[in-house]
Amino acid sequence: MKNILVTGAAGFIGSNFVRRALKLKSDWRIVALDALTYAGNLENLKGLKESYKERYAFVKIDIRDKNGVFNLFKQEDFDGVIHFAAESHVDRSILGPLQFVETNVLGTVNLLEGARKFFKNEECRFLHISTDEVYGALGDKGAFTEETKIDPSSPYSASKAASDLFVLSYFKTYRLNCVITRCCNNYGPYQFPEKLIPFMIKRAIDGEPLPVYGDGRNVRDWIFVDDHNDGTILAFEKGNKGEIYNLGARCEKRNIDLVKLLIEKLKVFLKDRKGFKEPEIAFVKDRPGHDFRYAMDPSKAERELGFKPKVSFEEGIDLTVKWYIENEGWWRRIISGEYLEYIEKQYAKR
Ligand SMILES: NC(=O)c1ccc[n+]([C@@H]2O[C@H](COP(=O)([O-])OP(=O)(O)OC[C@H]3O[C@@H](n4cnc5c(N)ncnc54)[C@H](O)[C@@H]3O)[C@@H](O)[C@H]2O)c1
Repeated sequence: MKNILVTGAAGFIGSNFVRRALKLKSDWRIVALDALTYAGNLENLKGLKESYKERYAFVKIDIRDKNGVFNLFKQEDFDGVIHFAAESHVDRSILGPLQFVETNVLGTVNLLEGARKFFKNEECRFLHISTDEVYGALGDKGAFTEETKIDPSSPYSASKAASDLFVLSYFKTYRLNCVITRCCNNYGPYQFPEKLIPFMIKRAIDGEPLPVYGDGRNVRDWIFVDDHNDGTILAFEKGNKGEIYNLGARCEKRNIDLVKLLIEKLKVFLKDRKGFKEPEIAFVKDRPGHDFRYAMDPSKAERELGFKPKVSFEEGIDLTVKWYIENEGWWRRIISGEYLEYIEKQYAKR
């Protein structure tokens, strides 16, 4: 049995990952770590202990706490780390960058130090989950490859780029067995409702206008969360040491087109719901430093890892919209006072 530490396990991608990996990898035991910030929710991991027993454990540790991280490494004798934990929301990083430096940079270095000091041999792997946002923005043409220069625009992407550089330095300096994946925008179940897709679904269900930044022509590249997580498992198992792999599903959408598609889907799924009205779009002042376009070239992962996303956008969006409609209690419960205060700050003056 391999003992794997998964950080950020109660967040959106991390919780989907833990569920999927426990199902697919019967020789893995997963220690799921999370600090349970506003974005982490134990409900996302519900039932796993009952289903998987000794193969699953949860620990509440903040990766900014070096001693907490080191003690865990001492106790657990990990065979590998898959590192999702991060402050992940660009708008929040614009309101307060420091926390992003503390968790995304310092927290990552604490984990790297834990791995460097306590991994038992050089086969133990450290997989760092990063993002297309480290590459900055594209114009109308082209796509990011692993050779594209990093050129982050927001405090979020700058903190992720900094953490990527630390990971690479641990490979170069200490020969730590590191791999980095950089993925495009994920969507699917359990995503915190501040992110575009669940945010729009929530507002539409509540009869509120759908705020779209600028003129809505910004382009994002989308992947269903399970496809990202399958790529994560492949990179963990087959990636070459010290390498970066871009993950994406070649699925670019303009924000405005995505919002219009969501409206179409909601109209179909909610046609019988009493009081449901077609939502209106409200264009709001653009985000400062808003990158125009992201597009990932995943050729290297396809070629070297056999990575191949399976879920089409149409299918993934259907699944996702239905999930948020069927799990209204889940997102209503996590919309706390803190979240409402943040939304007020973010959109009040736009
Ligand atoms: N969501 C995307 O579209 C996307 C795309 C590419 C890469 N990524 C990367 O994937 C990872 C996961 O993203 P997500 O969307 O699931 O984010 P998320 O915000 O939903 O989850 C992050 C998790 O990390 C935990 N966390 C935050 N600070 C912590 C700390 N100091 N110690 C321990 N745990 C802490 C939170 O409690 C939460 O459970 C991040 O590293 C992000 O940069 C996300």
